[in-house]
Amino acid sequence: MKKILVTGGLGFIGSHVVVELQNSGFEVVIIDDLSNSKIDVLEQITKISNIKPDFYQIDLRDKKAVRSFFNDSTIDGVIHFAAFKAVGESVQKPLDYYENNINALVYLLQEMKNRNIDHFIFSSSCTVYGQADELPITEDAPVKIAESPYGNTKQIGEEIIKDSCKAYNMNAIALRYFNPIGAHKSVKIGELPLSIPQNLIPFITQTAAGIREELAVFGDDYPTPDGTAIRDYIHVVDLAKAHVKALQRLLDKQNKENFEFFNVGTGKGSSVMEIIHSFENVTQQSLNYKIAERRKGDITAAYADTTKANEVLGWKPEETLEEALLSAWKWQQKQS
Ligand code: UFG
Repeated sequence: MKKILVTGGLGFIGSHVVVELQNSGFEVVIIDDLSNSKIDVLEQITKISNIKPDFYQIDLRDKKAVRSFFNDSTIDGVIHFAAFKAVGESVQKPLDYYENNINALVYLLQEMKNRNIDHFIFSSSCTVYGQADELPITEDAPVKIAESPYGNTKQIGEEIIKDSCKAYNMNAIALRYFNPIGAHKSVKIGELPLSIPQNLIPFITQTAAGIREELAVFGDDYPTPDGTAIRDYIHVVDLAKAHVKALQRLLDKQNKENFEFFNVGTGKGSSVMEIIHSFENVTQQSLNYKIAERRKGDITAAYADTTKANEVLGWKPEETLEEALLSAWKWQQKQS
């Protein structure tokens, strides 16, 4: 049985990936510092899969702790999620973001290199494309100058991995996520924003639940059919399955290059207004919202060309937008 380290494995995406790895027969060990997650998630994962993953509470900036973890464990591959992820906060605290997101990555890669651990999956983002010149966005679209320190940590992260793969003959895949949403069908794991949500879907579900008074729609004057911005919202379980495919590709030595990257989205763009209406339809909730100013740094539209992920990874999303929105709502109802 292959043993996979999942850093940030108690977070939103990480926890769903842990479950999918266990479903696919992998043994999982989680490192998480609980800075943006709760230990209770470990129990919930265990309830879903009937297997308790090993867990280590480690801050990956603690180089000695990282070394001692690897000294004590035999790991076949690493999926790396642990990172700060709030775009706005990263503008206020750039050094925190560089210190955390970059150091953690470097320390992990160093330990992997020293032990010839070869398989690395990196949690990247469509933010690397900025406002792409052409839609849908293919992996050939140029990487644009980052809009935020957070986005920059993803770009620099990819560069660090590329250089490491070249120098040390490691193999890695970066998955560039579009907008992950939704929750596991068991309603045991989902997105847990510990403060006011910055992302659209948790803000919508909290508004419907009465926790927030009103959703602000950031801008209705974009050059899109209804004037609101367009994104590619993907069910987190589909996204999680893409990680298992990517890992298997590396383990089976099917990768064509040392470092590959794939877009992970649905290929379908939805505007903020379309999301609001779909949410209202599937949940039969009416949502309090108003039109507000554009949010600084937001782009007009982003959705993925998923041909490469479909054909090369053999991965396709299975869940619909409506299923994803409904699962997010069920998850929210369980919280309140
Ligand atoms: N939006 C609102 N009101 C809100 C929140 C969001 O109208 O209260 C709008 C945004 O303006 C945007 C859309 O909903 O048009 C989606 O916003 P999110 O914050 O949910 O997602 P983003 O596309 O802005 O951010 C995502 C990831 C980031 C990543 C970024 C790259 O969450 O990690 O894509 O563009 F950096």
